[in-house]
Amino acid sequence: MFSFQLLSALSSAALLVAAAPSPRVCSTTPTVMDLPSGQTQLVSPTTAPLYVAIGVGVQNYTCSASTLKYTSTGAVASLFDISCLDTVPAFKTVQTAAFNAWNALPAGASPNSVGAKVGAPALLGFHYFVPSPTGTGISPKWDFTSTGANVGSANAFVIGTKVGDITDSTNTAVNVDWLALNNLEGSLASQVFRIDTVNGQPPSSCVAGSADISIKYAAKYFLY
Ligand SMILES: *[C@@H]1O[C@H](CO)[C@@H](O)[C@H](O)[C@H]1NC(C)=O
Repeated sequence: MFSFQLLSALSSAALLVAAAPSPRVCSTTPTVMDLPSGQTQLVSPTTAPLYVAIGVGVQNYTCSASTLKYTSTGAVASLFDISCLDTVPAFKTVQTAAFNAWNALPAGASPNSVGAKVGAPALLGFHYFVPSPTGTGISPKWDFTSTGANVGSANAFVIGTKVGDITDSTNTAVNVDWLALNNLEGSLASQVFRIDTVNGQPPSSCVAGSADISIKYAAKYFLY
């Protein structure tokens, strides 16, 4: 009995190891997040990030009939690899370049061509929302299973839950908040941060019956 349990524990450990997502390895020094001082919501891990991505997509909103404010219904974004661009000066402002390139594309266009326009052609994966593993509402997911080095690694995703939130210091009304999220499910990362946001906020109010809206945005995502 004991040896059977040991064997089965060993083989499931081996399976986990075999299927572990491969982090992006850079020859450069690890990228560090540039976080505002004087706040404790977003705290940088001391380890190097596993991946750094520039996300390009939309934030979706619906008009709440009770408050006449837009409320979030999720987001969809393409994630391009900027893990190893940290020594390039453009790294600091890639979110602005990406947003401008994305904003210039016509309505209905895919964001998948934006990475190549900003020096980050490699598509790491996609960010979207799924029914929450908690059973209530929706949760954000970062899914690297269908593209790049992690194709075929079924657990190369992370579903997160928000644990920290600060407003964007340059323009709260325009740029979506900076966030810290912890892992709820998946093996891709244990923590995700959304920082350096550009655009994505909805208008400050809506009228009853307003249609759902999608607002273009770009942001950096750091996965640890
Ligand atoms: C967000 O809106 C886009 C269209 O702009 C749609 O393709 C996508 O499925 C929507 N996602 C969510 C989570 O509402």
